[in-house]
Amino acid sequence: MNKDRLISTDEQRGDQWQYSLRPRRLVEYIGQDKVKKNLSVFVQAARLRAEALDHVLLYGPPGLGKTTLAAIIANELGVNFKQTSGPAIDKPGDLAALLTNLQPRDVLFIDEIHRLPRIVEEILYSAMEDFALDIIIGRGSGARSIRLDLSPFTLIGATTKAGALSPPLRDRFGVISRLEYYSTESLIEIIIRAAEILKVEIEDGGAREIARRSRGTPRIANRLLKRVRDFAAVDGRNVITDELADRALQELEVDGAGLDHTDRRMLEAMIKKFGGRPIGIETIAAAISETRETIEDIYEPYLLQLGFIMRTPRGRVVTKAGYEHMHEPYPEDDKIFSEQ
Ligand code: ADE
Repeated sequence: MNKDRLISTDEQRGDQWQYSLRPRRLVEYIGQDKVKKNLSVFVQAARLRAEALDHVLLYGPPGLGKTTLAAIIANELGVNFKQTSGPAIDKPGDLAALLTNLQPRDVLFIDEIHRLPRIVEEILYSAMEDFALDIIIGRGSGARSIRLDLSPFTLIGATTKAGALSPPLRDRFGVISRLEYYSTESLIEIIIRAAEILKVEIEDGGAREIARRSRGTPRIANRLLKRVRDFAAVDGRNVITDELADRALQELEVDGAGLDHTDRRMLEAMIKKFGGRPIGIETIAAAISETRETIEDIYEPYLLQLGFIMRTPRGRVVTKAGYEHMHEPYPEDDKIFSEQ
């Protein structure tokens, strides 16, 4: 159910149209300036030396363009881009098949690399370090190990959880880049670029209304743009103005800060049922009939990032900004921190 939320950062089945919006070159990629600048230098250096680029780890929240960036790197290097994901490789042989098919300097992209099975991860070590695979053939006393040489290649790993990566794997990446949530200004540029490709006219103000509600995430911005475009079409309007975007997003129940009704339900429960006192995560979960994990992984990160809630040793509290956003009067401090 969470996966279907309009403001979910996860890739949804209906998101595949967004592939056509993906930039193909570094110069078309908007935002993430520091990461872009560094990668551009490393890519140029690798090209000058005619060597494989160092292995790259991209980490950060979902929906920020890790896959897109990996494909751009391959494109800039002028090599093939092979794509897979941690959970898709369940046997060492699957990984061996991918690796032995790579051409010199190709890019192998492994999404959700923290979910690689341990036995698969272990054969990656020598592949990354020595461009070789150690394979055991036979069984028992007749078993022997043979070493298979691979073409030099670049592994690009992506993860939302850098901390979940085992240290031996993490240490084998020469370049580690963290993607950040996008600023509203960058999202405006992304929305204007997407609107051009989708051949919809949008005013800067319209793009800003969408950008503000996109939770710093291009995947959400593009999804909202498409929905707003539908409203415009049904209204017989051919330009997305700020007024139209605002009205459409209100209809879609995405508020001015990008919260949907589930986020608001959580804030409301924290304010109304608990009167602003610190609340344990299990209690919040029970109050809104969600699991603790859903709250921690899905609702909480964005509310924390906005500064609408805070974690304290005694539990979660709604901040002053959170109260203001919900148009509720902020209680006195002594009430928030008193036992009751
Ligand atoms: N579409 C999605 N992410 C983008 C980005 N960072 N730059 C340009 N277009 C995008």
